[in-house]
Amino acid sequence: MTNTDWTSIRDRFLEAQKGMEQEVVDSPASLEQFRIKYLGTKGILKDLSGYLKEIPVENRKEAGKLLNQIKQKTESLFQQYQQTYSSAGKASKAEIDLSAPGYPLPLGSRHPVSLVMNQVIDIFKRIGFTIAEDREIEDDWHNFTALNTPDDHPARDMQDTFYIKDSIQYLLRTHTSPVQARVMTREKPPIRIIAPGRVYRNETVSARSHCQFHQVEGLYIDEGVSFADMKQTLLYYAREQYGPEVKIRLRPSFFPFTEPSAEMDVYYGLADETAHRITKGTGWLEILGCGMVDPAVLVNCGIDPDKYSGFAFGMGIERQVLLKYNVPDIRMLFENDVRFLRQFSAI
Ligand code: PHE
Repeated sequence: MTNTDWTSIRDRFLEAQKGMEQEVVDSPASLEQFRIKYLGTKGILKDLSGYLKEIPVENRKEAGKLLNQIKQKTESLFQQYQQTYSSAGKASKAEIDLSAPGYPLPLGSRHPVSLVMNQVIDIFKRIGFTIAEDREIEDDWHNFTALNTPDDHPARDMQDTFYIKDSIQYLLRTHTSPVQARVMTREKPPIRIIAPGRVYRNETVSARSHCQFHQVEGLYIDEGVSFADMKQTLLYYAREQYGPEVKIRLRPSFFPFTEPSAEMDVYYGLADETAHRITKGTGWLEILGCGMVDPAVLVNCGIDPDKYSGFAFGMGIERQVLLKYNVPDIRMLFENDVRFLRQFSAI
């Protein structure tokens, strides 16, 4: 092959470059065409390289340099186009159907304990109780002393109470009653609060009891509050929660911070196996402890017992959950197995 005239080859080089610069790239498809046409294995740049050996030796250096420049320009232009069009290219390849409905997002559901707690709160809110919440790590004074629980009371036993490590002063509250003491020392009567929350006791975990559970405390202090007021309030609760036909009974009991004290049962019946087990075959379920606030407690919290009286109650939530939702084992409420939790409604 004869040596070709360098100037005419150079014209071809420059022409190719011009053509390349004028290419219209505006879509993933034209980007791909551009790549094949210029950078492909049979592309124009490859073609141009083929000319090099035909160029007279003295011009080769210049030719090589020009060719390199053109290559670099082509590649950088290609990269620019690629940034704009290639991701769109992928998307269009996947053929997304923009009219297709989205994936459903699974809705969470409320924990059954929260469901019952919210029902209780709702019921008492309707008759003027407000919510008071407080700490779960309590001090001895609020959990016991203020509540008239003497030093040698069995409830203080290490068996029942979780003390904070190396402390006899701080503990995990064993009931929601310390919130009574906190509210009474802070506020003046009339006081009408409920205190929902988690409590802890050092008990062996079984199908019926757990070392953590939930209570809702109630406290009503004003002038002339009587035992009859308490009874009527609790009857109202039972009717709202278990239906207008529900029966309740109050049994005499003892709590250091109330006098007189009682425990309240609701009659749940013996319709199914869960009812049998949870009511121990009696049909009656104990749901709360209650009583008239002991005057000594009022004094401890700075309230004049000659002027004011009041009642308090503390109800357990878990048992009511077991019964309402037919749950056979209290431990299921704390295991967070989603197959169990999913069965409850999201409201
Ligand atoms: N705190 C008591 C308990 O945990 C319940 C209770 C509260 C009793 C208020 C009387 C008054 O068992």
